Amino acid sequence: MNVLVLGSGGREHALSWKIAQSSLCEKLFIAPGNAGTAQLGENVNISATDFESLKTFVIDNEIEMLVVGPEDSLVKGIYDFFKNDEVLSEVCVIGPSKEGAQLEGSKEYSKQFMQRHDIPTAAYDSFTKESLNEGYDFLETLSPPYVLKADGLAAGKGVLIINDLEEAKRELKSMLTDAKFGDASSKVVIEEYLDGIELSVFVLTDGNNYKILPSAKDYKRIGEGDTGLNTGGMGAISPVPFADKFFIERVEDRIIKPTIKGLQEEEIEYKGFIFIGLMNVNGDPKVIEYNVRMGDPETEVVIPRIKSDLLNLFKGISNGTFGEQDFYVDEDVATTVMLVSGGYPESYEKGKGISGLEEVENSIVFHAGTLKEEDKVLTNGGRVMAITSFGRTIEEALSKSFDNAEKVKFDGKYYRKDIGFDLKQEQF
Ligand code: AMP
Ligand code: GLY
Repeated sequence: MNVLVLGSGGREHALSWKIAQSSLCEKLFIAPGNAGTAQLGENVNISATDFESLKTFVIDNEIEMLVVGPEDSLVKGIYDFFKNDEVLSEVCVIGPSKEGAQLEGSKEYSKQFMQRHDIPTAAYDSFTKESLNEGYDFLETLSPPYVLKADGLAAGKGVLIINDLEEAKRELKSMLTDAKFGDASSKVVIEEYLDGIELSVFVLTDGNNYKILPSAKDYKRIGEGDTGLNTGGMGAISPVPFADKFFIERVEDRIIKPTIKGLQEEEIEYKGFIFIGLMNVNGDPKVIEYNVRMGDPETEVVIPRIKSDLLNLFKGISNGTFGEQDFYVDEDVATTVMLVSGGYPESYEKGKGISGLEEVENSIVFHAGTLKEEDKVLTNGGRVMAITSFGRTIEEALSKSFDNAEKVKFDGKYYRKDIGFDLKQEQF
């Protein structure tokens, strides 16, 4: 079948890499893609949110499967756009309906969903400009640190964690009355701080059945020792050592099953990935957030560990055989280290030549912000590429990722040399 992957990051390169290995894949297209995806299929110069242009392309190229990488296309309703179109309704879209995408598109929606289905999460309340004073009162009932979240999509920047009560009140006001995060913060969720270790669990579902994908932990801060500004993600490890069989069973019973049942009961169409951001609070998993797509860079460690044919699983979602399909995961550890442009996540330059890619051995290079110009590969974003490796231990996999991170060169290259620092001592 002909497949179109939407997006242009490391996540989409990793998804395309896996899909391209399937014997079911005839032609693979990526819109808009990057220099890495161009090695696997044909990049198409259409934005992932330009639904009308995508429609024309899908019809002209007889696309049967649309795999949606980023959240904004989903929150804008690409699933419904296809399902409600006479010609496009036969195309299988991997991603939730617009309603389902609200689990990521609105923090308040997702908190209410969790409350309705008894899914463990932090206590919360939500406020608007009109209820600012109630927001102040609510803050006074909590103990620090205070967690303030812009309700809508804010490109991963909409969460503030603040120790001081007066500062928390000022920030609440700035979010609600000065549109600190634009429209996204016209409503703010204030929630209880969860103290524990974070990890993510991923689920692929057809709306009735599900497969639990490998767990992963990402490293969001720019600086070593988890310091400095938040980024999209500087590296990831899979599996997470403390997420053992017993912990995952708890996640399945208390979170995954009620989530799928909740979607069914509320008749929310959902055929795609659910990314469950969790806090392990003394062995009890609590949901920090849902995302309605895979994580980046988590995809770069989760997908390579899946042994089953991913495109066949997607096909199963479309023809009703998903529930019967086997699902195998590699026992080995996977690690990824993200190379970023100097200055990221603040301002940085693009267009730097990348060299040394041919020297990489024993790792997979997933491109994120890259661009092919004639025979050159140039930097084209903050996060430039993710270097993924396998090993029997975290240390073994990481040493390959770090060796190859040195070999790839571009002006201003930076990467964290301590990915996995908090997990290494633990034995498998
Ligand atoms: P989010 O955008 O919801 O992923 O939040 C960004 C980050 O803020 C998360 O990855 C957590 O590290 C942190 N965070 C969010 N909610 C809480 C909470 N209730 N307690 C502690 N940390 C949180
Ligand atoms: N790495 C976090 C995310 O994709 O949201």
